[in-house]
Amino acid sequence: MLVPRKEEMMNALIVYDSQYGDTQHIAQAIAEKLAEFGEARALRLDPAHHVELQGVDVFIVGCPTQGWRPTPAIQSFLEEVSSEELRSLAVACFDTRFRLPRFMSGSAAKVMAGKLVRRASRCSCRRRASS
Ligand SMILES: Cc1cc2nc3c(=O)[nH]c(=O)nc-3n(C[C@H](O)[C@H](O)[C@H](O)COP(=O)(O)O)c2cc1C
Repeated sequence: MLVPRKEEMMNALIVYDSQYGDTQHIAQAIAEKLAEFGEARALRLDPAHHVELQGVDVFIVGCPTQGWRPTPAIQSFLEEVSSEELRSLAVACFDTRFRLPRFMSGSAAKVMAGKLVRRASRCSCRRRASS
């Protein structure tokens, strides 16, 4: 088995929303697996609390698809998350949804991925403009 060196150990944060528990189960399973390689925790999004990304290397957002979109809480979070911080992280996202072809179910992950890319690249544009 390959064991990462201490300096290669990562700090992973999985932020998720979940109404009925499906997304929560997956977020926790991802955290359990990633904990083999460093720190990993799954955190249910609480709009009342700031999500601290300082010290995080791998950031994963999980959300159920509702009406072809992420939940309102995750949508707001993605509007507010710091572009600067996002840009320095490895970012991924996942959704849960009906077992249907994506053109019929929609996909929260597709929407989230677009938002995450836009926010991260907005930051790089600003940097380029100011340098
Ligand atoms: C209000 C509501 C809207 C939903 N809309 C969609 C949808 O547009 N597409 C889809 O594939 N599934 C949809 N679903 C199904 C959920 O995405 C799916 O059951 C998901 O696994 C639930 O995750 P959770 O248990 O973490 O809340 C919807 C469920 C609810 C309750």
